[in-house]
Amino acid sequence: VNDKLLKALHGQNEGHPPVWLMRQAGRYLPEYRKIREHHTFMEMCRSPELVTEITLQPLRRFGFDAAILFSDILVVPDALKLGLSFEEGVGPVFAHPLKSAADVDRLPSIHIAESLKYVFDAIKMLKPELNVPLLGFAGAPFTVASYMIEGGSSKELRNTKQWMLRDPDSFHRLLGILTKHTIDYLIEQYRSGVNAVQVFESWAQMLAYPQFKEFSLPYLKKIVDALKKEHIPVIIFARGSSLLADDLAALHPTCLSIDWNGNLPSIRQSVGDKISLQGNLDPETLLNPGTIVQREARRILTQMKGDPSFIFNLGHGILPETPVDSVKALVDAIRENG
Ligand code: CP3
Repeated sequence: VNDKLLKALHGQNEGHPPVWLMRQAGRYLPEYRKIREHHTFMEMCRSPELVTEITLQPLRRFGFDAAILFSDILVVPDALKLGLSFEEGVGPVFAHPLKSAADVDRLPSIHIAESLKYVFDAIKMLKPELNVPLLGFAGAPFTVASYMIEGGSSKELRNTKQWMLRDPDSFHRLLGILTKHTIDYLIEQYRSGVNAVQVFESWAQMLAYPQFKEFSLPYLKKIVDALKKEHIPVIIFARGSSLLADDLAALHPTCLSIDWNGNLPSIRQSVGDKISLQGNLDPETLLNPGTIVQREARRILTQMKGDPSFIFNLGHGILPETPVDSVKALVDAIRENG
């Protein structure tokens, strides 16, 4: 078994850093697109067989040092009966987005262990097939709430921001509900077999700093505290992490995943050596031939050389247009130059 990722999470990795990529299972892989032709995204998420196959696809091709469960952060609001679908060229769409405080108070009370049983079944089927650690994940409450309010992807998060400004109480109620479900969800993933979890606060950079402190950070803290109590290693990914690193580090997560704006050595200096760092190649880099990919990867490898708690990743998810050869070149560069 390859446990480089777990070693890096414990500050004990030697040699080249472990590498995996956010969205490593997905549309840039022809073998993923082939399955996708015949199924809706939610059918794929609900089938333990398909989740197992799709999670394994990038490992077969590139031999990454970790698997990430194939699923989505929006299965939690789907379990809350918002009616999720993924439309071609549009992204996620909720049939019943939240429109008012009354909608928040009408959310059904659910048991995650039952409502998301299909995820836990998939983890149990997948786990024995792996010789690398398995990462589970969930969205952070603010990011998930924004999708529930916008009804799908949105550039400005206008409805979310206006709600937050005009009725912070009901917004906090929503965040509280999501926090509870997120904790239950991640603990149940761990009990089903994942080795560590990543929490995605993908929209943190949209918040003004006081809003980040009020609507994101305290809920991330609750999640990190609950997971650490269960000894579950937790990675926090946030866009804007280069500005927010000190606040996020103060939560004492196992690892911080840094977006491509961040200067890893200075973040390492300011957060100390008790926290693992993950990142942070710009995903756009991978739209280039291998020589360019390798040149840019080496900048990061040089910066973090010998750091026993560094995990190589992208600064955000891999782009669907990425050529598979560029990913291969990246992995080669890491194994040769670590
Ligand atoms: O990383 C992995 O390979 C594991 C699976 C995974 C998916 N989504 C699969 C997926 C993970 C970890 C996610 C996280 C996720 N989902 C986030 C946080 C990370 C980030 O990118 O900021 C967010 C915000 C979502 C919500 C979501 N899901 C959006 C906005 C979209 C559409 C836009 C896009 O990038 O595709 C999805 C769809 C989605 N999730 C796909 C995959 C493979 C593509 C679906 C398809 O095949 O049509």
